[in-house]
Amino acid sequence: MNKKTTGNEMWGGRFSAGPSAIMEEINASIDVDKRLWREDIAGSKAHAAMLAQRGIISAEDHAEIARGLSQIGDEIEAGTFNFSAALEDIHMNIEARLKEIIGEAAGRLHTARSRNDQVATDFRLWCRQTCQDMDTALAGLQATLARRAEAEAATIMPGFTHLQSAQPVTFGHHCLAYVEMFARDRGRFQDARKRLNESPLGAAALAGTSFDIDRQATAAALAFDKPMANSLDAVSARDFAAELLAACAICATHISRLSEEIVIWSSAQFGFITLSDDFSTGSSIMPQKKNPDAAELCRAKSGRIIGDLNGLLIMLKGLPLAYSKDMQEDKEQTFDAVDALALCLAAMTGMVASLHVNRPAMHSAAATGFSTATDLADWLVRTLGLPFRDAHHVTGALVAMAEQKGCDLPDLTLDEIQSVHSGVTDDVFSVLSVENSVASRMSYGGTAPENVRQQAALWIERLEGTAS
Ligand code: ARG
Repeated sequence: MNKKTTGNEMWGGRFSAGPSAIMEEINASIDVDKRLWREDIAGSKAHAAMLAQRGIISAEDHAEIARGLSQIGDEIEAGTFNFSAALEDIHMNIEARLKEIIGEAAGRLHTARSRNDQVATDFRLWCRQTCQDMDTALAGLQATLARRAEAEAATIMPGFTHLQSAQPVTFGHHCLAYVEMFARDRGRFQDARKRLNESPLGAAALAGTSFDIDRQATAAALAFDKPMANSLDAVSARDFAAELLAACAICATHISRLSEEIVIWSSAQFGFITLSDDFSTGSSIMPQKKNPDAAELCRAKSGRIIGDLNGLLIMLKGLPLAYSKDMQEDKEQTFDAVDALALCLAAMTGMVASLHVNRPAMHSAAATGFSTATDLADWLVRTLGLPFRDAHHVTGALVAMAEQKGCDLPDLTLDEIQSVHSGVTDDVFSVLSVENSVASRMSYGGTAPENVRQQAALWIERLEGTAS
């Protein structure tokens, strides 16, 4: 019988590779962390400059290191760099190449540093840039929504509670609700950025270093606000990534709610909007179909983004200080969430910018379902002095009457209305139209077209610096 030549005889049966190859596969992170190359080179340059400044390495070695690192940056940019899984991660890939380019001096770069503070530094720099990118993408989406709000300030649609027609609102008002949500999302990314902007570099493996380094200088060179005050915390903290992912998860939840609305609104039964061909797909079997795939995928991706946050927190929660290799998994989840959200934001901006609003469909849906019943009750309170509870009761009776007749509230005759409450006058009809209903909602934050126009103009001014 042929014995397997690779693998451990006790457990190697299902593996085609030997233990060292499996170890390499589980250990290597280069496929994921290669995207930290810019940050890794920046961190190394700052570190080397500080070492030279402090006389820990010579000026000549520093010059060589800086030249070699720049060349590596060019090679990676040009796609000619050879990434190797045997070299585990981005840090060792770059250092190994540095040695090939400049020789022995490369070995001096890692003085007073460890991969633990190195990776924490790189990852913070990457997350910092991401906070900024998310902010920019969100501002673009907000501007697109605010422009829509301006154009649709007087477009009447049904407002829902429990997905049942509640009161008429304007589509512009609905768009601005999301502008507000995305403003808070931006605030969360800005907050995360502020808190993460401290430098772990120089914490070394976990305890600091006996070399006389200048952590203020490397922090300043990398535009961090200050060096982190505790070396154990510096190498083991990942709450900055958790905070970034929490901001992503909440933002994705908002994107998902809007996606759900787009799915509903674009259905034949609602017909409130038509997605542009660019952001919908056909069915391979049903020729009539135009599917809101982009919205559905945004809705779905929120699930994985929330999952990434969960995965990161669960990975972290049992880890003793300081560094554990578990933490290598932080990047895959972070990159996954950020990539997914960036794509969702781009797709949502495209969908909102290009969708067609079917105003007549929105309007006729708004006028059904007795949506001005509250206006009628308010009229009874204001004009006849009824207590709201009584007005509510009278209105309920009128709704029942209309329902029985198979008509809407404005279609009842004055006689019919007076049979329920004799004090009602002709004036009541002025509040039963959806136009009057929305126009009357002038309270601050209300749906009146005039309010919506003002708010949209404010947002456009804030976002684009040009009110129109
Ligand atoms: N690739 C590692 C990571 O991402 C770098 C740090 C490795 N440190 C260590 N002590 N093995 O976490």
